Amino acid sequence: MRELLSKSLVVVSVVVAGVFAVEPATASTATTLATAAERTGRYFGVGVQGYKLTDQTYVGILNREFGVVTPENEMKLDATEPQQNRFNFAPADRIVDHALQQGKRVRGHTLLWHAGQPSWLAGLRGTALRAAMLNHVTQVTAYYRGKVYAWDVVNEAFADGTTGARRDSNFQRTGDDWIEAAFHAARAADPTAKLCYNDYNIENRAHAKTQAVYRMVRDFKARGVPIDCVGLQSHFTANHPVPADFATTLRDFADLGVDVQLTELDIEGSGAAQAENYRRAVTACLAVSRCTGITVWGVRDSDSWRASATPLLFDHSGAEKPAYTAVLDALRCAR
Ligand code: G3I
Repeated sequence: MRELLSKSLVVVSVVVAGVFAVEPATASTATTLATAAERTGRYFGVGVQGYKLTDQTYVGILNREFGVVTPENEMKLDATEPQQNRFNFAPADRIVDHALQQGKRVRGHTLLWHAGQPSWLAGLRGTALRAAMLNHVTQVTAYYRGKVYAWDVVNEAFADGTTGARRDSNFQRTGDDWIEAAFHAARAADPTAKLCYNDYNIENRAHAKTQAVYRMVRDFKARGVPIDCVGLQSHFTANHPVPADFATTLRDFADLGVDVQLTELDIEGSGAAQAENYRRAVTACLAVSRCTGITVWGVRDSDSWRASATPLLFDHSGAEKPAYTAVLDALRCAR
């Protein structure tokens, strides 16, 4: 009797162990955006505002649905270096620490941007400005070394319109080579981080701005400038919808030898039409193997920088919208 009991216990323990073994999610068991994306080899992330980490509804959705976190504002120049050489990482650390404690990865946003500059930096010119901007890149990247998996090293350096020109900014006026100098400084400070160029309105391959970014990335790769990815912000509106050939744009960049990521996805609209646009954007990423992840730019519509456009996957109360279901279904059905 004892022998039969011990054998049955062995069988039970094997079965129980089997039940709790960590198996990769399947299409049917992937019940969150993060797990559904992970089964395709991608991440699904979100832009986070640190002061909302006391909001239980916000944190509940964040912890459950998303695998990568981007601080929406707390790593920008004015937040991290409010006075020259006086760094404040506390607001960003609050988000980074939460993400890492939850087993999530962090995208850093953004080291150099023409907007959101502290007054001391905006007042510099020439060699003093070039030294200060590269010191900023070095200090911030080094501080987060090993904690930030990908950096938006430079954000929005190209002008809108039909010229494909660089955006006129204080950084640009230090010389055309400011962007590559920033990438070299970031690589030196954290060789483990993926280094991205990030911009908006580069989703349509025919647009001059898209072509200008494409030429820069191609030139950087040819000259060994350390660039690993292109971030396409993917802010879509009624007047700037998801392009029919979005996947081709993504593939064009990827074929240069970089990853592509949708870094700030939000789509103006509501209901079935919004859901269909989200499905198209996600499907475009799924069609390109080096499209490594998607980040939506906020949790609930009320958290959005453009809340009135109701552009996100959860409504103001945190309820899932049709767009959420469309995204989850697209990820779960992906081959
Ligand atoms: O923190 C201050 C607060 O103390 C003050 O009371 C309040 C009112 O003045 O302003 C708060 O700062 C605001 C900050 O968001 C945090 O909420 C700034 O005014 C506001 O300009 C800032 O807007 C952010 C914007 O970038 C400019 O930095 C948005 O939240 C953020 O979603 C948006 O994100 C950008 C990306 O970084 C780059 N791509 C475009 C995207 C949309 O503009």
